[in-house]
Amino acid sequence: MIVGLYGSGGCGRSLMPLAREQFGADKCFWIDDHPASETINGTPILTFSQFLMQDDPDKRACITVANSKVRAKLVEKCAAEGIAFVTLQAANTVVMDDVEVGEGAALSPFVTLTSNIRIGRHFHANLYSYVEHNCVIGDYVTFAPGVRCNGYIHIGDHAYIGSGAIIRNGRPDAPLTIGDGAVIGMGAVVTRSVPAGEIWIGNPAAPIARD
Ligand SMILES: CC(C)(COP(=O)(O)OP(=O)(O)OC[C@H]1O[C@@H](n2cnc3c(N)ncnc32)[C@H](O)[C@@H]1OP(=O)(O)O)[C@@H](O)C(=O)NCCC(=O)NCCS
Repeated sequence: MIVGLYGSGGCGRSLMPLAREQFGADKCFWIDDHPASETINGTPILTFSQFLMQDDPDKRACITVANSKVRAKLVEKCAAEGIAFVTLQAANTVVMDDVEVGEGAALSPFVTLTSNIRIGRHFHANLYSYVEHNCVIGDYVTFAPGVRCNGYIHIGDHAYIGSGAIIRNGRPDAPLTIGDGAVIGMGAVVTRSVPAGEIWIGNPAAPIARD
């Protein structure tokens, strides 16, 4: 098996050490269609075509791009070539009871997922983020470092939660929802549901003002 991390920017660079630890350094490559060098941090860079030409028939990938729309495009591109997806998971993550995480996730160091949680495909949870009990998270959701996602919260596909944001817990009969494609700014304190596609910031969080 060989593993390609597609995307060698900041997101990928903080995830490659996890891949090396999980799969062995000799199995890991960057995939970058416009490489500016032959290696990054000691790991060889291949273009997508070069990755496909490697001898090993068992090729897997994780899309290490924070932008969820780009992530989705690269997932389609890999899937079209029959490449399967791996989850990158730091050894010190804490995952408790009845947690389902879809393929292709990236769980950075110190991430905690507690209990009775459903998470979709290609989820990114950056350093020190947590997901508390009874949350439902869609596909291509991105948590920046230090996101505090409390219990009974539902988050739609392609939502982005900025660094240090705190989301108030919902209730069993009325989860707090973050709609599809919504963006929560760094440091926001989200006290009520956020509609799809909106950008909310501040404490208490409110839609960002635009002129
Ligand atoms: C909310 C966010 C998406 C808005 O980005 P943007 O649309 O480019 O907005 P701008 O930077 O033009 O800022 C617009 C205004 O909102 C303010 N603002 C931006 N983000 C803010 C935040 N998180 N909290 C409070 N105010 C914020 C800016 O100061 C600016 O105010 P001004 O008009 O008075 O000067 C972005 O600022 C953010 O918080 N991104 C998350 C960053 C992050 O977590 N990165 C982690 C990387 S691993």
